[in-house]
Order: sequence, then C-alpha cells, then structure tokens
Amino acid sequence: MKRDLLAINDFTREEILDLLEKSADLKEKRQKGIEHLPLKGKTLGMVFNKQSTRTRISFEVGMFELGGHALFLTGDQLQLNRGETIQDSARVLSRYLSGILIRTYDHEEVVALAEHATIPVINGLTDLNHPVQILSDFLTIKEKLGRIEGVKVAYVGDGNNVAYSWMTGASIMGMDLAIACPKSCQPNPTPKLEGNGKVKIFEDPFEAVQNADVIYTDVWISMGQEKNEEDKIKLLLPYQVNKKLVDSAKKDVLVMHCLPAHREMEITSEVLDGKHSIVFDQAENRLHVQKAILETLL
Ligand code: CP
Ligand code: NVA
Repeated sequence: MKRDLLAINDFTREEILDLLEKSADLKEKRQKGIEHLPLKGKTLGMVFNKQSTRTRISFEVGMFELGGHALFLTGDQLQLNRGETIQDSARVLSRYLSGILIRTYDHEEVVALAEHATIPVINGLTDLNHPVQILSDFLTIKEKLGRIEGVKVAYVGDGNNVAYSWMTGASIMGMDLAIACPKSCQPNPTPKLEGNGKVKIFEDPFEAVQNADVIYTDVWISMGQEKNEEDKIKLLLPYQVNKKLVDSAKKDVLVMHCLPAHREMEITSEVLDGKHSIVFDQAENRLHVQKAILETLL
C-alpha cells in the first residue's frame, strides 16, 4: 500500500530513527562517490505553488542521484490552477508518476491530493506545517550532539508552519521544545502531541533559551502571510536571534535556521555567520534526508 508524508506523525519514532540511519548512509555513499540507483525508471512530480530553493533542489537532485527523474511543475503550468479538480488531477498524475511532492498554501489541498492519488504524496510545506524540514533537522542535531532524545530546542520567533512541525516532531522524538513568541504569534492551530517530549510556550525569549542545546528560528513573515507585515515585524523585534540572546544561553549552544534568512530581522548576520551557527550543514542535510524519504516511500 502507498504511504504519504503529510505530517511528521505519519512516521513513528522508530521509523524516523530508521530514516535518519538511511540518510546518514546515503550521505556517506555520496561522499565516497558510491553509486546507488534504487529509483531507476521512477519519476517524481514536484508541484510548487510557492517559491523554493532548498526543497525544490534537494528533491530534484535527490531523485537524479537515486537514478530517477524529477519533473518541476508550477501551479500555473498545470490545469489544476485553471479549475481541473484535485481529484481528477490526482488520478491522472498517478497514472504517470511514482510520487508527488507538493508545496502549496492550503494544507487541505495536500490531504485531498493524497486521498485521491494512488502514489505517495510528500508535503513540501503548506501554511500549516513543514515536515520534511524538521525531519532533516533531526539528522543535523543527531550529527552535532550525538542524540535527539532529551535535546532541548528553543524555537524563537513566529509560531508558524515550521514551529507547528517542531511541536509534532519534538513530542514524538522525546525532545524538550520551548517556543518563544508574542501571544498573538503563538502557533494556531496546534497539533495533537503524541509521544513523551515536552512542549512549552513562553513569551520571554531569554527564559526560553535557558539550558537550550539549540536555538532555532525562521522568517517572521511566511510566504502568503504578508498581510499586516509591518505590525508583525514590530511585535517580533524583541525575538531577534542576536548576540545578546545567544550569549545568555549555554556556552556551546547551536543556532539553526531553516532558511531563507532575512538577515538583521529574525537573525543577525553576526549570529548567522558566527561560531554557534550550523545553518549551512543544516541546509546540506536536506538533500540526504529527502533522498532517504524518496527511497523509503517510492
Ligand atoms: N527551508 C526551506 O524549505 O527552504 P526553501 O523555501 O528554499 O525550500
Ligand atoms: N515559514 C516559512 C518557511 C520557509 C521555508 C514560510 O512558510 O515561508
């Protein structure tokens, strides 16, 4: 039976740990130049209704490196945006492709696509969540700290799709997640929390980063959420990840950002390019983990 990845909890904790092992193995194979072509003859359709650098490129290169092919499809090129139903599109795409990656606004669109497709559907970000990002962040944390369970992540900034997936992921993986954001930017809706991780919401970023192993941030204005942008930025200014915040945390705290970064907004260049930052290793790991997801599902 086909399996989809629409949210992190579509995988169990054990399956996520297996996925991370597979990712590490694929990373090593790539570094050693060992050819590994399990997806020969398979094609991934990649539907993007929003911009992307990392997600698009990591999946596209990932398919190529696994011996398969990827088709980049923007919403405007498909009949989908001219009124062809999601049901009909799902049925047709299922006749040609081995899997669909989709990045769009409305999460329900992805759910409907998965319901009507007979091939795996992978969520490449919706307004609600961003599971493939957080799954690959687990690999980066495991590489840097040697463990995932018990790690404390302080997510500082807007309670957006990335924060939502962090809530799901941290609770499944037994992590300690402290979210710091203004009241009106708290994650809404919130996911059902499964697993033994702890999730706590703070208003004070300095309180949230106490004892954190990782400080994590993301853009303040997500794609499609540009309404009242200026007011929101003002509200979020005290949540900037800057030297003062990092200096108030543990000496060896790591700083992560899913990117793209808006320098001098949610994070200063001093921190992004500084010694605590692991953001470019984090970005690289998107490739290895997306390959493991493709190999697992396709
Ligand atoms: N982090 C992330 O998903 O980046 P892109 O928007 O560039 O894909
Ligand atoms: N929260 C951001 C993540 C971008 C990768 C957005 O949705 O635009």
